[in-house]
Amino acid sequence: MKVLEALACASALLPLATADWQFKSRTDLAPPRLNITIPATKDVEKGYLFIAPFPGQFPDPEHHGPRQEAPYIFRDDGELVWSGYTYYSIWTANFQAAKWKGQDVLFSFEGDHNPAYGHGHGHATFLNQNYETIRELRAGNHKLMDKHEFHVINEKTGLIQIYQPIPTDLSRWGGSAEQQWIVNAIIQEAVLPLNPGQAGSGYNSSDAWDYFHINSVDKDAAGNYLISARDACAVHKINGTTGDIIWRLGGLRSDFELGPNVAFCFQHHARFISQSEDEEVISLFDNSAHGTENHHGHEVHTHPFSQGKIISVNTAKWTAEIVQAFQPPDGLLAKSQGSTQVLPNGNALVNWGSEGALTEFKSDGTPILHAYMDSGLLGEGVENYRAFRYNWTGIPNEEPAIVAEKTPSGTAVYVSWNGDTETAIWRFYAITDQYGSRSYLGESKRTGFETSFFFAGRTYTHVAAEAISVHGRVLRATQGVRAQEQVLPPTNYVDAAAAAAAKGRSMWRQVVLQA
Ligand SMILES: *[C@@H]1O[C@H](CO)[C@@H](O)[C@H](O)[C@H]1NC(C)=O
Ligand SMILES: *[C@@H]1O[C@H](CO)[C@@H](O)[C@H](O)[C@H]1NC(C)=O
Ligand SMILES: *[C@@H]1O[C@H](CO)[C@@H](O)[C@H](O)[C@H]1NC(C)=O
Ligand SMILES: *[C@@H]1O[C@H](CO)[C@@H](O)[C@H](O)[C@H]1NC(C)=O
Repeated sequence: MKVLEALACASALLPLATADWQFKSRTDLAPPRLNITIPATKDVEKGYLFIAPFPGQFPDPEHHGPRQEAPYIFRDDGELVWSGYTYYSIWTANFQAAKWKGQDVLFSFEGDHNPAYGHGHGHATFLNQNYETIRELRAGNHKLMDKHEFHVINEKTGLIQIYQPIPTDLSRWGGSAEQQWIVNAIIQEAVLPLNPGQAGSGYNSSDAWDYFHINSVDKDAAGNYLISARDACAVHKINGTTGDIIWRLGGLRSDFELGPNVAFCFQHHARFISQSEDEEVISLFDNSAHGTENHHGHEVHTHPFSQGKIISVNTAKWTAEIVQAFQPPDGLLAKSQGSTQVLPNGNALVNWGSEGALTEFKSDGTPILHAYMDSGLLGEGVENYRAFRYNWTGIPNEEPAIVAEKTPSGTAVYVSWNGDTETAIWRFYAITDQYGSRSYLGESKRTGFETSFFFAGRTYTHVAAEAISVHGRVLRATQGVRAQEQVLPPTNYVDAAAAAAAKGRSMWRQVVLQA
């Protein structure tokens, strides 16, 4: 009761949009707080982490993170670089940076998501380095683009994937006369039996039996494709000219004899790594599990935990060997989604799909960074389709955000610039007259998303800041803002919200809505 009163009292002071007290200058943003259980060592590859976490299928989504599902760019220490919340709307996945026709771009799948079937329908949206939308790419020929694959090839073309329901006779697979829709895919091979009562049983075009479930496509320099067929537990190399199968790895009709730990199942994200005369190296994410995140329906496990894998196939001896397996720090088993990105320095970034976590490994399999994609109660049930590491230079078009507060002992200023990667120093000024004359107050090294500066013993009514590059160049100036009375977070805010949520109620949200 006391807690409720305290919250009710505090909430009256707060704007409704105050999300979670992470940033004073951007109270509208509530990005996930990464739970980093293995802090990055000096061996991690250079670049930022690209993720697009979303809440899993929990009956009460309020208690599960992230609060703002969106594409995000993070630093290895968990500091936010860019929140893509509202830049992309609806449901997003497969967020990446790429070079596209000479330009550095961000892209992500954006669209409708059907979690029960694992299908998404939408388009790829491209942003430039100023975070402006420059392109929306849709599938041609009256087909809907699926969420699973979008991949820029040769900086020019995009590989996408489409699920096309077609009517067919399923009786030889044990289907009844009413079950006659399958999702069209190029090759037929089935491991999963028809399973009435589960999503995808073939009763109608929305419930089409997805017997193959292609979930990744890659293309090599010779124009051949690597296709991952999740429900066949196999990857196929396909002749890009004829569409013929060149080889099959895994599944019921593998062309290769599999060495120890090569066998995989329900895998994702198969990629060509290198090719020579008789030897081809690929990477993939081996889920070794199939099922729904809410534990309804039938679950299949083929191994106790999921693994990132680099596999070498020999097309003279028809053998397949593991080059390196990447094993999860906490024995994670991803029932859906996942990715393995082999990085330029030989490290691998493995994303544990339905488990909402990522790990960077050294090429010898040692984990050197592990993070869950939200923390506390919000960390439960977070999922993420793929994660990547890329270099990125972001120069936001929007102005930097600035807030100043009068405290009993001086003036505090908070500044941030969503998506900026170039500011090294923030320089602060007092605005001294109505014509905007400024006097220099001091500067702060930029250490994360938000930078603060405190002027002890002085009260300034108007302040402004400038973003300074590593070369000392002024990148952008903020507006001048008036210093406001300080607002403190409600007493015991964190404890109270956690206690309420543990009892199955989100007191905080309720109180704010009443206020
Ligand atoms: C399609 O079949 C499923 C499974 O029987 C059923 O739940 C759904 O209502 C059907 N949809 C339509 C549009 O008939
Ligand atoms: C693909 O098919 C074409 C046409 O038959 C053939 O010339 C080519 O060698 C094939 N490629 C591979 C890698 O088998
Ligand atoms: C971080 O994750 C670990 C492992 O799942 C968990 O034990 C711990 O409670 C989490 N910490 C936070 C703050 O969520
Ligand atoms: C980022 O750039 C550095 C320097 O060019 C390079 O060493 C590194 O491999 C790049 N990182 C990624 C993820 O491409």
